Amino acid sequence: MPNQSPTDNIWEAMSTMRAMRRLKPDPVPDDLIQKILQAGQWAPSGGNTQRWRFLVVRNPQVKKQVQAYYSRLYDEQVGPRYASSAPPPGSDAARYQRQNAAVKYLTDHYHEAPVWIVACLEGGENPGRTAGSSIYQAVQNMLLATRALGLGTTLTTRHTSYGKEVDAIFGLPPGVQSYAILPIGWPMGNFGKLGRGPLRDVVYGDRWGQPYQGA
Ligand SMILES: Cc1cc2nc3c(=O)[nH]c(=O)nc-3n(C[C@H](O)[C@H](O)[C@H](O)COP(=O)(O)O)c2cc1C
Repeated sequence: MPNQSPTDNIWEAMSTMRAMRRLKPDPVPDDLIQKILQAGQWAPSGGNTQRWRFLVVRNPQVKKQVQAYYSRLYDEQVGPRYASSAPPPGSDAARYQRQNAAVKYLTDHYHEAPVWIVACLEGGENPGRTAGSSIYQAVQNMLLATRALGLGTTLTTRHTSYGKEVDAIFGLPPGVQSYAILPIGWPMGNFGKLGRGPLRDVVYGDRWGQPYQGA
């Protein structure tokens, strides 16, 4: 059933929060962006260090310059990967092809999303297992807040393959990196069922490989 509506129900929000890659260029009111940013800042961070910085980008020239790198990376990496890889769990060939079409659409229209929130982290790059762990909580909170308001977005990280170049466009100082760009706008399509594999395939009990009763 089509679903475009805002919701305060977290279970509904999580279970229908599809990647919304087709967005209208219509403006998004500042007070809604403010709510999304506040949700981001409520997130936990290691030691409560709160080294996140959020850049709200509306400037068309800035977005267009970044989109050029985003598009180049589609040609260099993403397009060839979609052409040669199998559909993920819970998907099939037709659905995967639709996903690729949406990914290509967002690539071509990235800069047309009326607002971007760029999630940045101060403190230098961390190559270890905790890389990104003090920024992606904020990102997920912002994704959920966006869904709750009936707005569409997708977590995108592709630009980080040209991270230095893109961070320079955003004017980030040394020691600050961008981790994710959330292009935000009113969705053209509907929220709805997610393509995920069965839970029992990814949960074990006590030891790797042992079935977990209940999943
Ligand atoms: C770490 C991460 C990076 C992602 N980067 C991109 C990206 O650069 N571009 C894009 O279109 N989608 C990106 N996505 C979105 C995923 O492709 C999407 O969440 C996944 O296909 C599931 O989509 P669904 O929730 O609509 O089923 C990213 C998601 C994650 C978690």
